[in-house]
Amino acid sequence: MDFRTIIAKRREGMAHSKEELEFLANGAASGDIPDYQLSAWLMAAYLKPLTDAETGMLTVAMADSGERLDLTGVPKPWVDKHSTGGVGDKTTLVLAPLLAACGLTVVKMSGRGLGITGGTIDKLHAIPGFSSDLTPKKMIAQAKKIGIAVAGQTNHLAPADKALYALRDVTETVSSLPLIVSSILSKKIAGGAETVILDVKCGSGSFNPTREQAEKLADALVSVGKHAGLRVFAGITDMDQPLGRTVGNALEVAEAIEVLTKPEAELRSNTKRFRELCRYYGAIALRVSGVASSSGEALERIEDTLKGGRALEKANEWIKAQGATVDFGDTTWIPRAAVQLDLHAQIAGCVGKVDARTIGEIALDLGAGRKTKDDEIDLSAGLEIHVKVGDLISQDHKLATIHAATQELADAAMARLIHAIQVQTAPIPPRPILIRPA
Ligand code: URA
Repeated sequence: MDFRTIIAKRREGMAHSKEELEFLANGAASGDIPDYQLSAWLMAAYLKPLTDAETGMLTVAMADSGERLDLTGVPKPWVDKHSTGGVGDKTTLVLAPLLAACGLTVVKMSGRGLGITGGTIDKLHAIPGFSSDLTPKKMIAQAKKIGIAVAGQTNHLAPADKALYALRDVTETVSSLPLIVSSILSKKIAGGAETVILDVKCGSGSFNPTREQAEKLADALVSVGKHAGLRVFAGITDMDQPLGRTVGNALEVAEAIEVLTKPEAELRSNTKRFRELCRYYGAIALRVSGVASSSGEALERIEDTLKGGRALEKANEWIKAQGATVDFGDTTWIPRAAVQLDLHAQIAGCVGKVDARTIGEIALDLGAGRKTKDDEIDLSAGLEIHVKVGDLISQDHKLATIHAATQELADAAMARLIHAIQVQTAPIPPRPILIRPA
């Protein structure tokens, strides 16, 4: 097969056959199709989106571009939770150990940063020694032993996604519904998942700026997933403002540790909002896997596990098993950027906007994400956002803190940040985190 014909067919919006999609997935995985041709196909697929049938075929072809994890013998229930990507989304860092501490087995593959959205794997790499390069054998052994294993995209499982994901990140082709569906679900199928809980993000800091787009993505994920034999639950949550207080890899790890170590009352308000999301999806996971019989019971179990320190213990067991040389009991190892610069409110009033997209772009400019495939990330760069929409604040209230490697980077970030957070005189209600329940 000549890949130029496949690019041309996509460019003209002609249907791909199963064989063509398999050729694409296998060629991406093996490296036989060069990046420039894959990039051309991705842009054509962005402009002429794949049909549902093509998306289903591409998903399976990508899942079969490497091994499929066989979880036989790993204690059940198995649950995987995955986000479609958002600014400040560090949910896996809390939820994976929390669920494992509640008796579920969490085996999952996570991604690097994608566009303006940070990636779980990049955040985990802010932990000294942590390795996400797990072989299927090691994933299974670790899951059997401690109930949790989180791997990055490797050449073993869904390697086609590894190749396409890295190219989508730098070719502005991320926010295509069929490409997101096939990327997420191919990893779930290859990872041996049975039950998948999807957090579909909606708002400026995600790939779904409108509710209509988020609903379409949620519905497509559920239907393609079901077709592939998965039990899929998809909720839609707010991503018009960043999730939690922090954006940037090490900062987000620090915030996840706060949720695992501190009582809710001691958390700052944006971190409480992040905790609420973890509780919500945690309770869904316990219910759909039959560990709890009602929402009330599930929430109680989640709270007890957090408060009793068992989620923290499990998190430490997990990161140690994957090579960490530090633990979450202490945070002195967390790298801190050389420069911190605060933004204060010029007027008293109500926070009317905290634009997640601009904040994600600023984080990227500060070095928290990649602009080209092989860019090195600055793990300590990012932002803390101290307010959320609906907060009533006085003049001079601290709105945000920039964490930058240099004063020059901090000043450039500040020039954009002053437009991203708006304070107005008219009050506005807070934005609920949950838009559509799973
Ligand atoms: N997460 C993924 O794994 N893939 C996407 O395309 C988006 C979010």
